Amino acid sequence: MLHLKPLSPGFGLEASGIDLSERLSDEAFVEIEDAFFDGQVLSIPHQRLTPAEFVAFARRFGPPEPHVIDQFHHPDDRNILILSNVVIDGEPQGLADAGTYFHTDYSYLDVPARATMLYSIEVPESGGDTLFANQYAAYDNLPAAMKRKIEPLVAVHHYGNRHVSEGEARTAASTLTDDQKAKMPLITHPLVRRHPVTGRKALYAVSGSSYGIVGMPHDEAVALLDELTAHATQDKYVLRYSYGVGDVVIWDNASLLHSATLTDPECARTLWRITVKEPVPLGHAEAVLAPTFVQRPM
Ligand SMILES: [Fe+2]
Repeated sequence: MLHLKPLSPGFGLEASGIDLSERLSDEAFVEIEDAFFDGQVLSIPHQRLTPAEFVAFARRFGPPEPHVIDQFHHPDDRNILILSNVVIDGEPQGLADAGTYFHTDYSYLDVPARATMLYSIEVPESGGDTLFANQYAAYDNLPAAMKRKIEPLVAVHHYGNRHVSEGEARTAASTLTDDQKAKMPLITHPLVRRHPVTGRKALYAVSGSSYGIVGMPHDEAVALLDELTAHATQDKYVLRYSYGVGDVVIWDNASLLHSATLTDPECARTLWRITVKEPVPLGHAEAVLAPTFVQRPM
């Protein structure tokens, strides 16, 4: 039986009474899945998982998608991306400083992420929190005129962080090799996206991978995206999560923005990450080709 308690007054749930290393019955999984969609962030502390157990649990939510940055895939299972600031004999043991800006995972893919889950292996004394911003609430609280304006708009996405150019700072998106870049086309998603499971409207990926709006001059589009980002990431929409060793944290990418926070490079911090995609809808079309006025800083 799952016990749930709120992580904040607005959203987020912590679950106890469950061992994810065991094969969950369908009934037990439905309880977890319901808590995930209700809470948007679901924390399940005190877990001890092998790579295979972690991947088996993730598969219950949807098909895992290995990250484009393949240098740090777990040697036992490429569905796990190792996030770590640990360096041994000059060799980084994982991807450091990943996603330290508000974004939504895989919004630069045609079929975006349903859920991202982190399993915490090593935690620093301080830092390394994740910030989550509730995009249902951010949408709901927009003035009616803004809702009408953005309802029909479609944003253009590609891998990266609109706010910080590649390689410029620790808060830029993790750098891709030329081969990895070649796999990353331009993609479009509605700016106001109806959640594929709950049906609720949310602002979608206004920060991070959104670089333009179809049919809108570039400067105007960026100004609108920046205005929406400032609105959507206000403190009143944000939950800060601090990890303990053994925490499994799962979040709903369709209704949240999230941002990692920087860690002290001297304090070891390691997480395993799996991201599962939304199921592909029947008759799903290929990505719409983006208009040429959208600049692609590569
Ligand atoms: Fe992320």
